[in-house]
Amino acid sequence: MNTAVCERLEIEVPIVQAPMAGAVGPRLAAAVSNAGGLGTLALWRMDDENLRRQVRETRSLTSKPFAVNLNMELPQEERLEACLEEGVPVISFFWRDPSPLVSRAKAGGAVVMHTVGNAKDARLAVDCGVDIIVAQGWEAGGHVRGTVATMPLIPAVVDAVGEMPVIAAGGIADGRGLAAALTLGASGVWIGTRFLASEEVAIHPEYQQRLLAATENDTTYLDDLFDVGWPNAPHRVLRNSTVANWEAAGRPPSGKRPGEGEVIATAKSVGEIVRYSSGTPRPDAVGDIEALSMWAGQGVAMVHKVQPAAEIVREINEGARAILRRLAE
Ligand SMILES: Cc1cc2nc3c(=O)[nH]c(=O)nc-3n(C[C@H](O)[C@H](O)[C@H](O)COP(=O)(O)O)c2cc1C
Repeated sequence: MNTAVCERLEIEVPIVQAPMAGAVGPRLAAAVSNAGGLGTLALWRMDDENLRRQVRETRSLTSKPFAVNLNMELPQEERLEACLEEGVPVISFFWRDPSPLVSRAKAGGAVVMHTVGNAKDARLAVDCGVDIIVAQGWEAGGHVRGTVATMPLIPAVVDAVGEMPVIAAGGIADGRGLAAALTLGASGVWIGTRFLASEEVAIHPEYQQRLLAATENDTTYLDDLFDVGWPNAPHRVLRNSTVANWEAAGRPPSGKRPGEGEVIATAKSVGEIVRYSSGTPRPDAVGDIEALSMWAGQGVAMVHKVQPAAEIVREINEGARAILRRLAE
């Protein structure tokens, strides 16, 4: 399946493994790229040494293109320079206006993507020179930029950006989602939650088991519960005891939430983890894993088993091709 996104990114299948801070490392990104999709590292909080180490490790595992995701809520000039020096072929920006860094990224040789949640922001991104728009519906797991669902968002963005390739994100987890996204005018998909059930992802086994057991009713969109580190940062997570207790307390604001400051887990990699902190549950965490921020999108209902990432890419691609062939008969 060769789409405009495949051509622009020089990949074989129009499937991007979404950036997922704290869950994606070189193994997963490289596995997706080796399978013909695009793997993405989320390095927007990394120090220079670790950023370069992750990029080099990914490159040692794949000769194919991969991306690095940078969150514009934080200063990213130095990380972008390091990525360009390391020859990262694709840069993905998200959250705030990427215009201060787009021309530098392109002059440094990168293809530039930006994630938006509505058509107006998509047009602004086109005006500032990005190469590909990622349109994220509010079904998505993790940080959610907009409040529009994927089904109406994709046509609105496609209509707003002319010839610019659009990648659809949010609630896409199998071949049906890829076929639907292509039908809506996107030329690729950006998938997070399904890859949380890959063998290469770096998350706690209990979090992964809860994802496998979850239905489409088990996630919740929160304006401001977990402390993501910057204001106005809505997110979608699996509903858990932390969410339930906060709701039962009348949804109080930060400073008055039940159990605030309580240490509920520890991990060698990050130390003590307090209730409402926003880290992805890591493999080495010990404690009340269920009470941590377990990011997930509504598409979690389509996630049934843990598989190698390459198998996930193949299944989604072949599933979509079969549907599109059947519809064309
Ligand atoms: C665990 C997790 C962490 C995420 N971290 C990031 C991130 O660091 N940067 C980003 O742009 N998006 C992040 N997202 C959002 C994803 O990139 C993507 O938009 C979303 O997963 C797509 O929806 P889906 O989960 O329904 O596939 C994260 C999502 C999840 C589930």
